[in-house]
Amino acid sequence: MSSPAKPAVKTYQNYINGQWVPAANGETFPVYDPSTEEVIAHVASSSAADVDKAAKAARAAFDSGAWPATTAQDRGRILFKIAGKIRQNLPMLAELECRNTGKPIVEAEYDIGDVATCFEYYGGLANKVTGNVMPVPANALSFTLREPVGVAGQIIPWNYPLLMAAWKLAPAIAAGCTCVLKPAEQTPLTAMEFASWLEEAGVPPGVVNIVNGAGEISGAALVAHPQVDKIAFTGSAAVGKLIVKSAADTLKRVTLELGGKSPNIFFADADWEAAVDGALFGVFINQGEVCSAGSRVLVEKKIYPKFVEAMTEKAKRIKLGPPLERDTKMGPLVSKEQYDRVSTYLEVGKKEAKTAIGGGRPKTFEKGYYVEPTIFYDVDNSARIAREEIFGPVASVIPFEHEADAIRIANDTPYGLAGAVWTRDIYKAFRIVKSMRAGIIWVNHMQPTYVEAPWGGYKQSGFGRELGPWGLEEYLETKQVFVNLDETPIGWY
Ligand code: NAI
Ligand code: MG
Repeated sequence: MSSPAKPAVKTYQNYINGQWVPAANGETFPVYDPSTEEVIAHVASSSAADVDKAAKAARAAFDSGAWPATTAQDRGRILFKIAGKIRQNLPMLAELECRNTGKPIVEAEYDIGDVATCFEYYGGLANKVTGNVMPVPANALSFTLREPVGVAGQIIPWNYPLLMAAWKLAPAIAAGCTCVLKPAEQTPLTAMEFASWLEEAGVPPGVVNIVNGAGEISGAALVAHPQVDKIAFTGSAAVGKLIVKSAADTLKRVTLELGGKSPNIFFADADWEAAVDGALFGVFINQGEVCSAGSRVLVEKKIYPKFVEAMTEKAKRIKLGPPLERDTKMGPLVSKEQYDRVSTYLEVGKKEAKTAIGGGRPKTFEKGYYVEPTIFYDVDNSARIAREEIFGPVASVIPFEHEADAIRIANDTPYGLAGAVWTRDIYKAFRIVKSMRAGIIWVNHMQPTYVEAPWGGYKQSGFGRELGPWGLEEYLETKQVFVNLDETPIGWY
C-alpha cells in the first residue's frame, strides 16, 4: 500500500466577522484521519462566548453594513464566485475531505463537485425570488414581499461535511440572511479552508461566521442564542429533539433533517443485476454513513434466498482500503465513537438475525476504524437492527410475502426520510410510490440526489426541505403589504 506524503498539521481558528480568531478560552481540539488514527489538525474549541461573538457579528451584518444593501444580483454573483473557488480547489478539498472523513477519494471528488453545483444553483436562483399580488375585494393593492429570515444558525454532521455546509449556506446567502455555521467536531477542515476564500468572493465580514466546537457546548449555545432567528440542523434524531425543545424558549424557526431507516424494496420482477447492485449501493455507499441509507432491504419471498446469496457474493468484492486509493470502494468509519456504536449494533444483529457476511472488523488493517460490509438476513422488522439507525455498512434483509406486506413493513418505522422500489411493473411501482410515507422515493435506483429536487423527511425524519426552491423558502419570510387606493375616509366613526 502506498503512503502518500503527509501534509503539515495545521491549526484552524474560528472565522468570525471576517477575522480568524482563537477560541476565547484559547483551547483547541484534535482532528483525526480515521484511516490512520493520527491527528491531522487542531481546531478552536469554542464556548458560549465565541458563539455569542459570532451571533452578534451576524446580527450586526444583517441589521446594517454592506449586506442589507446588496441586490439579489449581487448575492447571486457572490455565490458564483464561491462556486468558482470550489472548482479551482477541487482536488485539494476532495483530498482533505477524504482524509478527514475516511470516505473514498472518488466519492469525495463527487461530493465537492456537488458543493460547487449547489452554490451555482442558488447563485442562479437568488434573483428569481418574487412575491404575489392578491385579488383582495377592495380598491387596494395587496402584495407580498419576500424577505430574509435574519440570522441563521446552521449545525451540520460529519458524513458529507462541505456538502452539508453548502446545502445550508448557499440558500441562506441567496436569501440575504447571515449565518453562523457550526461544523461537526469530527470533520471541520474543509469548511475552514472554504472560509479562507469568502472575503475574496465578496462576502462582507459577519455574513458567514464559522465556529467550531462540541455540539453540547457550542451547538447548544447557538440554538439558545436570542439573536439567532432560525436553526437549520442535520444530524441525529436525539439531538433534533433537544434542539426543538431549546429553540422553544426563543421561538426560533427550526428545520430538521434527521436520519432514517429507509426501506429498499425488491420485487421478483425487478431487473436482477441492477437490483442486486442497487441493494448494495443503497446501503454501503459512504460506508453506510448516509441519512437516506437503504438499511432495510425488503425482498419478495419468491426470490429471497437467491437474492441474499447474490448480495453476499457481490459484497465479497467490495474493496475496503485506504481512502486515498482510487480503487477503494469503502474506507473506515469517521471516528472511534462511530466505530464503537456500529460495533455494538453488529453484536446486537448477530443475536437478532442470521449473518450472511461481515459482522466485525476486517483483519487486513492494523489501524483505522474499518468495519466489514455486513449483511444480516431473516431480520424481523421489530428487531433493533430494523428499527434503529446504525449509520454504518450494515444491511438488514427482511423477507415479504406480497405487495401489501411490503408496504406495511416499509411504513412500520418511526422514520420517513426515503424509500426505494425495484420492479418492472409501473402500476405496482406507482402504488408503492403513493403508499410510502417518506419524503424521497426512488424507483429502480437508490441515492441519486440533485440540487434541483427537494430533500427532507416525513415523520421523525424531521421537517422542512432543503435543496431546490424549497431550500430557499426556508430562509425567507413573507410580508403582506396592503396599499389603500380609495381616497374616501373609512367613515366608521
Ligand atoms: P449528532 O446529532 O450528535 O451531531 C450532529 C451535529 O450536531 C454535530 O455538529 C454536533 O456537534 C451537533 N450537536 C450535538 N449535540 C448537540 C446539541 N446538544 N445541541 C446542538 N448541536 C449539537 O450526531 P453524532 O453523535 O455525530 O452521531 C450519532 C448518530 O446520529 C449517528 O449514528 C447517526 O445515526 C445519526 N446521524 C445522522 C445524520 C444525518 O445525516 N441525518 C448525520 C450524522 C449522524
Ligand atoms: Mg452526538
